[in-house]
Amino acid sequence: MVRETTLAADDFIYPLFVTHGQHVRNEISSMPGNYQLSLDELRPELEELVELGIPGVLLFGLPASKDPLGLEAYATDGIVQEAVRAVKRVAPQLMVVTDVCLCEYTSHGHCGVVVDGYVDNDQTLDLLARTACSHAEAGADVIAPSDMMDGRVGAIRSALDDNGFKTTPIMAYAAKYASAFYGPFREAAESAPQFGDRTTYQMDPSNVREALREIELDIQEGADIVMVKPALAYLDVIARARERFDLPIAAYNVSGEFSMVKAAARNGWIDERRVTLEILTGIKRAGADIIITYHAKEVAKWLK
Ligand code: PBG
Repeated sequence: MVRETTLAADDFIYPLFVTHGQHVRNEISSMPGNYQLSLDELRPELEELVELGIPGVLLFGLPASKDPLGLEAYATDGIVQEAVRAVKRVAPQLMVVTDVCLCEYTSHGHCGVVVDGYVDNDQTLDLLARTACSHAEAGADVIAPSDMMDGRVGAIRSALDDNGFKTTPIMAYAAKYASAFYGPFREAAESAPQFGDRTTYQMDPSNVREALREIELDIQEGADIVMVKPALAYLDVIARARERFDLPIAAYNVSGEFSMVKAAARNGWIDERRVTLEILTGIKRAGADIIITYHAKEVAKWLK
């Protein structure tokens, strides 16, 4: 009765990596228990999520091929677009969130169009807006832009509105830091930048006032949910955002945070269950309403 913070399965969104082909179920070596899955392999995964009471998935796609403009990101029959339809067929009650970004689809691995060795912010906006509309068209419930271009929430909002998706909400990766904690994800999504890094568009880990400014801009542009990412090294950012803004806050407990727990647990160095619950409770206590986490399934089982 006196406990201030409790975790529940319905706090979580579970990320899924979808890929072309059949009978593909590749375990991601640095993220035990997480797989690149072809669409025909999704059913048991989705049924398990529903059974565990996890309300939503976040989809990431591995395209058939990559090119400088990331064409498959906004193709009607792209891997994520097909995956949205597949999830909706098998488990219509699951909320489908789609990550909108170009980095998995571009040959250079950057989140936008590269011009003269730099990511060109404004040329990228149109492609992100097209990607968002193609996801909504396929049936996505929530659009989650993760690219960190300036002005993309506004561009996506007006494109959605103009194309008949006025009611589709945006969960903006609002304060997304240029973080080494994304390392395992880049193996999972095959999206590491082929030159340079993401510091021209993602945030400097040293800054918190800038994070609040980024969040405020996304809200002004029409975000419905704002996200802080990563979570663990940024609990102060979550707490500051919670104090300042009244929108729902999502926190992304990212791949590196997950892999560290798994690696230490495999070595017998930590009590995996207690550490995992403590981390997720800390993220919620800091002020997150929604936690995107690769731990979602195991934690939902423990909480049962
Ligand atoms: C795409 C994207 C990334 C993550 C989510 N969306 C990688 C990146 O920005 O390099 C990271 C998720 C994770 O590490 O779990 N831009």
